[in-house]
Amino acid sequence: VALATLNTFAIDERAERLCFIHDETGLRGALEMADRHGWKVNLIGGGSNLILSGPVPGLTLVMRSRGRRVLQRTADSVLVEGEAGENWHQLVCWSLDLGFHGLENLSLIPGTLGAAPVQNIGAYGVELCDLFDSLDALDRSTGQVRRLDRQQCRFAYRDSLFKQQPGRYVILRVRLRLATRPVPRLDYAPLAAAWQAAGITRPDSRVISRLVCDIRRSKLPDPAELGNAGSFFKNPLVSEPQARILLEQYPGMPHYPQVDGTVKLAAGWLIEQAGWKGRCRKRVGVHRDQALVLVNLGGARGADVMALAADIRRDVLDRFGVSLEMEPQLLGA
Ligand code: EPU
Repeated sequence: VALATLNTFAIDERAERLCFIHDETGLRGALEMADRHGWKVNLIGGGSNLILSGPVPGLTLVMRSRGRRVLQRTADSVLVEGEAGENWHQLVCWSLDLGFHGLENLSLIPGTLGAAPVQNIGAYGVELCDLFDSLDALDRSTGQVRRLDRQQCRFAYRDSLFKQQPGRYVILRVRLRLATRPVPRLDYAPLAAAWQAAGITRPDSRVISRLVCDIRRSKLPDPAELGNAGSFFKNPLVSEPQARILLEQYPGMPHYPQVDGTVKLAAGWLIEQAGWKGRCRKRVGVHRDQALVLVNLGGARGADVMALAADIRRDVLDRFGVSLEMEPQLLGA
């Protein structure tokens, strides 16, 4: 089965077997069949954080379960729940239309609700874990559905239990705790600047959502026009002494001190300084407006992407002594 339209990088690989999953019964049936035949099981949500490195053996499940609801209201907050296959941005818009606050900074992130906890999606000063209440997941090691709370999900920057124990859990539904009053998060400087420029004085989550969409559209390529998987590398964490040495040499280098004493650097800045921004090869390139995003220039294979990524990694390591870690997940032979 062709996967080109099921991954936002638009890599044209095939899955040996593919099944769309709409509910838990369908999921259990598919998993039983895979166990019976000894097929490896792969999961896809929106395919927006995925690099296909070859044909995908086994059984690939595409999560398409839908449904979202308000479970509980208190004076200050609401608990909302959605099925794993819900589109993330549509869920954000739905929550804003109902007058709930909290998801506005995470507007326009591609992908599904069920995939959001896997990499703890984050943007413009907010991460999924800030709004996260709990989720239900099928634990393949026991066959039972487990409720996992925030602590059990072991969220960290672009990381979670589901990355640490790949293949064990299938996320079925996710619950988020949202606020009934606006809690604007404007610590991301370009967002604060856009907010000021808009001249609005009353906090308004829908306006923030619109500004976030504008910022994203100005920097990040639309996967419908140019295949990509968002940020290709994580922003690296370095020790404080290493950051200090780099800052002596590059005083303008963006750097974000963390609570644990490490310093986060901007991978996009490092890649741009190394001269890669906007560089094109035959089928893949580095986006001209955001060096952290690799793009499909047409007909890219996983090998093209990985070769470009390896050259960028090597160059950044040589120049800055900083090792970049790939962010999207690799799938395929
Ligand atoms: N920068 C450059 N050149 C570039 C790109 C960035 O100099 O080509 C500099 C910027 O000027 C800025 C700094 O690097 O000083 C950070 O750039 P930006 O604010 O664009 O964000 P980012 O660190 O590159 C991260 C997330 C994005 C998220 C944005 C906004 C990761 C891996 N990426 O990117 O998430 O939207 O912050 O919060 O943490 C994604 O994960 O797919 C993603 C798009």
